[in-house]
Amino acid sequence: MKKITVVLGFLGLSLLGLAQPIVPFPYNMEKDLTADSVMVVTAHPLATKVGIDILRKGGNAIDAAVAVQFALAVVYPQAGNIGGGGFLIYRSKTGATDAIDYREKAPAAATENMYLDSLGNVKTKLSRLGVLAAGVPGTVDGMWEAHKKYGRLKWPELVKPATLLAEKGFQITQQEADNLNEERMTFVVNSTFLPAFVKMEPWAAGDWLIQKDLAETMRRIEGDGREGFYTGATAALIVNDMQKRKGLITAQDLLEYKSVWRKPLEFKWKGLKVTTMPPPSSGGIILQQLLTMTSQSPMASFGFHSTAAVHLMVEAERRAYADRAQHMGDPDFYKVPVKMLTDSAYLAGRMKDFDPQKASPSSAVKAGDIKESEQTTHYSIVDRDGNAVSVTTTLNDSYGSRTVVAGAGFILNNEMDDFSAKPGAPNIYGAIGGKANAIAGGKRPLSSMTPTIIAKNGKLSMVVGTPGGTTIPTSVFQTIVNVYEFGLPLREAVHQKRFHHQWLPDRIVMEEGALSEDVVKQLQAKGHSVLNREPIGRVEAIMVLPNGKLQGVADTRGDDTAGGY
Ligand code: GLY
Repeated sequence: MKKITVVLGFLGLSLLGLAQPIVPFPYNMEKDLTADSVMVVTAHPLATKVGIDILRKGGNAIDAAVAVQFALAVVYPQAGNIGGGGFLIYRSKTGATDAIDYREKAPAAATENMYLDSLGNVKTKLSRLGVLAAGVPGTVDGMWEAHKKYGRLKWPELVKPATLLAEKGFQITQQEADNLNEERMTFVVNSTFLPAFVKMEPWAAGDWLIQKDLAETMRRIEGDGREGFYTGATAALIVNDMQKRKGLITAQDLLEYKSVWRKPLEFKWKGLKVTTMPPPSSGGIILQQLLTMTSQSPMASFGFHSTAAVHLMVEAERRAYADRAQHMGDPDFYKVPVKMLTDSAYLAGRMKDFDPQKASPSSAVKAGDIKESEQTTHYSIVDRDGNAVSVTTTLNDSYGSRTVVAGAGFILNNEMDDFSAKPGAPNIYGAIGGKANAIAGGKRPLSSMTPTIIAKNGKLSMVVGTPGGTTIPTSVFQTIVNVYEFGLPLREAVHQKRFHHQWLPDRIVMEEGALSEDVVKQLQAKGHSVLNREPIGRVEAIMVLPNGKLQGVADTRGDDTAGGY
């Protein structure tokens, strides 16, 4: 019999077989784990446990991904969701790859100027809070489609753990308590009733969060699949809230929502094969641009977090994000020039004016001339056969629109803010856009989510991704170069502090202490402005080690947890 090396550390009994889940609190949050045959890394210990339980039952990586997605919607309400969307990258044990886009869509009645006042100014509150901020959710359809194509276990088994967690409740962590306390009033103002996330006294670590309405919704999804969300009682509850608060999502919008199987964006870098997300994410293109532009210099010889390496990376980021603002949007509505944007001659041209001694001011860096156009969460899974799944999923920022659907218990996204409300007007992440990412009914807003899988010599090497809005591509980029360029062990590569540049605003932001005082001074001398900011990203990564074992690393910036056996 195969020796079980690690079992998450829980003494608790299986969530699946019990009416009342027993998992000791405070949770054991494994940050760096090596295991023989399977690995799950998610933003929450209970979601990781659900994924592991499904794999133990004989489920494959897609089964585990579906179960984790639903579990996160219960135990990690700030970003786990059924009221949002995401992207899933799949690599089978034979190396075949696939991608499903379950990004939210603008309701049919959405219009280009819907967030502008009579003077043409952007009313940012409307695209960020309340029902008008929500796109048509894609998660349930995405999970349904992924399971239909690749799943092995029966659908209800995959939803059941989430139903139980919602119904019986679970104990919240300090981070979750802090977040819920902070958002108390925004939930009250933006929901038509008092949701389970609001209580009279402040939340504390160890309090039980019980979500009865959400359990009913999960039960409908468990029994009726996608229909349990897009039609019937759940759909009626969504539409009811929309009508009460002048939202735009109709029963027809819900009925017509379809996720899309897309050809993943794939490219070679340093002999590795990188598989990542194409538009409507900007993430994959930016990742390819950054890896290609920086590979024109001997970056490893500059040294990890050295002035020369950071300057090079930041200058590549500046150019890639200028392209994002101009050229990227939903490919079903706008012809994104993917081939041109990722062409090596084009990217060499983009770095022609790179000066190792001097920052190029963003005002002087325009998008390339093309001849043709924060709170999110990531999980990584590898099953015993070597199938891998990389999923990034979101409500957009923390707790999305803060609108909990009355009677249905789940939070609606505020993904409409990822559109460009007006050319040049920044969204929540300070990103700007134009025509390519203008609002239109049925269109998907441009994303930065970058779920990625890397293969080496035809074999699985790394599964990686992170939340973080526009910082997502740069965090994935940094994790990849930390490992494959600078030779850092995975644990270091993930836990190291990060920095980011996105063309506009024209500045490097970094986690405090990411760069030494000397490096900051030298960057400033080159003309960069450098600012501290709050933590960047929460990377969840799995690597296949030379001995064939799996190493799972969960980010230390949150409650993220690796599990495996
Ligand atoms: N809502 C964040 C993103 O999709 O990039």
